[in-house]
Amino acid sequence: MSFQNITWEVADGVGTLTVNRPKQLNALDVATLTEIGQALELARAEPGQVRAVILTGAGEKAFVAGADIAAMSRLGPAEASDFAALGHRTLDALEALPVVTIAAVNGFALGGGCELAMACDLVYASDKARFGQPEVNLGLIPGFGGTQRLLRRVGLMRAKEMIFSGEVYDAAAARAAGLCLDVVAPEKLLEHARAKARLIASRGPAALALCKKVMQRGADQPLPQALDGERTAFAGLFGGAEAKEGMAAFLEKRPARFPAP
Ligand code: CAA
Repeated sequence: MSFQNITWEVADGVGTLTVNRPKQLNALDVATLTEIGQALELARAEPGQVRAVILTGAGEKAFVAGADIAAMSRLGPAEASDFAALGHRTLDALEALPVVTIAAVNGFALGGGCELAMACDLVYASDKARFGQPEVNLGLIPGFGGTQRLLRRVGLMRAKEMIFSGEVYDAAAARAAGLCLDVVAPEKLLEHARAKARLIASRGPAALALCKKVMQRGADQPLPQALDGERTAFAGLFGGAEAKEGMAAFLEKRPARFPAP
């Protein structure tokens, strides 16, 4: 499949999706969101080949500077609803991908860009990264999940401050707020993300997929229900080849050879 607004490459079990509209600071329009969705489908279709996905932005300046403001300025309410629905579908698909997803935030992650990063499991940043939800400056609110994912990631009061003020956080402030994990030099960012991706991708894929599902669901469930989900998933693994191999390898003092899921 060929893409215009993104690139998609797979190497060593890790897929790298790069939003590639550097002249627009990688802003998200319908075509770009659609292509992101298509690349995620490719990743989902080949779980044996793609065991982790990294998202990043082309160029030195931006991860993604938000939804495409020029395109949005032409929308009426019904079209804006469709646009937000496409954003939600795309980011929901990213969040639900059964392999680990890592945002490598190399520059501005504003509005839809911050929302894209927050739909990933892990976020690493370069020291040039900038995070924010500046929609109120445009007379808008976050439309790709920011009002809801931000409060889950950084807490309600911090999320309110970020969204109400539209302030942009540098990488250190973003890390302190819980928006990203490690902050590294720009030239080290992709390798850092790839090293984490390869490490995680070497673990049991069925276990990883279930951890992700149970943790994600559980975060929005009452604790007893979430613990039930954990027990069911834990028990289910005992019927599969992966856990048998993992435990046998430990007992035989050898590395595990996990089958493709
Ligand atoms: N949409 C469309 N084009 C954008 C864009 C965006 N979100 N962000 C930047 N661009 C374009 C600029 O229009 C400019 O294009 P031209 O060269 O053709 O004029 C080019 O990218 C470079 O940008 P700047 O000249 O503005 O670069 P800068 O270094 O001076 O500033 C910036 C960088 C602070 C990121 C600034 O571009 C900016 O504030 N961008 C908008 C950020 C924003 O408001 N994002 C939220 C969008 S709304 C949203 O995302 C809603 C949602 O939740 C779905």
